[in-house]
Amino acid sequence: MTHQHATDAHHHAPGHDDAAVLPAQEYWEGFYGERDQVWSGRANALMVREVEGMTPGTALDLGCAEGGDAVWLAQQGWQVTAVDVSDTALRRAAVHADDAGVAASIEWQQHDLGETFPSGTYDLVSAAFFHSPPEAVLDRTTVLRRAADAVAPGGTLLIVGHASGPSWMGPHPMFDLLPTTARLLDDLALDPQVWTVDLEDLVTTDHTGPEGQTGTRADNVLRVRRTA
Ligand SMILES: C[S@@+](CC[C@H](N)C(=O)[O-])C[C@H]1O[C@@H](n2cnc3c(N)ncnc32)[C@H](O)[C@@H]1O
Repeated sequence: MTHQHATDAHHHAPGHDDAAVLPAQEYWEGFYGERDQVWSGRANALMVREVEGMTPGTALDLGCAEGGDAVWLAQQGWQVTAVDVSDTALRRAAVHADDAGVAASIEWQQHDLGETFPSGTYDLVSAAFFHSPPEAVLDRTTVLRRAADAVAPGGTLLIVGHASGPSWMGPHPMFDLLPTTARLLDDLALDPQVWTVDLEDLVTTDHTGPEGQTGTRADNVLRVRRTA
């Protein structure tokens, strides 16, 4: 489930600012319930770029959606714990893993990560496009801090996210809230005795919208390693 959407439903057109803010589970169940498949099923290219050189170990995939990244990680030899708030997404992800023959390497867990978090520590914790529209509750900073706490010594926290909206949509306050990697690092407040910043990157790629709109979109990558 790369971020190449089967549809681009998660980026509603601007103008939803006055909509009610729903609990994460209610919002995302509704979101997945509206269509049979949301994401492409492929792994996110930027996650693949960062992880393919690593030695496989244990991985935690936060906001795994329909399982594209988790399945790819399992295919590379990682033992994956994959989490989403939506049971519908998790059911689809499990079918995808079965079809790919990697079901035994993935444990699916349902959590509202603002409320509960998987136990244990992991060699890789990945949050790929762990975004929410304004209509759904998400304290992303708190979740990402807990994600850092879940990294085992020697392990990596990888955060891949949008840095801007798609160029064809023009400016919108929703996109102004997307953090830079510098802002993410400020929010995470990682202890420099314990963490090394391996990579901060800003990548602009061609992006196609649900109605065939063409343009670009900027994404950023933050990769930090727990050294102790
Ligand atoms: C924008 S989607 C992208 C997910 C996927 N990693 C990708 O790259 O395509 C965000 C995902 O995070 C999940 N999510 C949002 N808020 C959550 C929460 N509080 N707890 C757990 N999962 C959440 C949603 O259900 C959705 O599947």
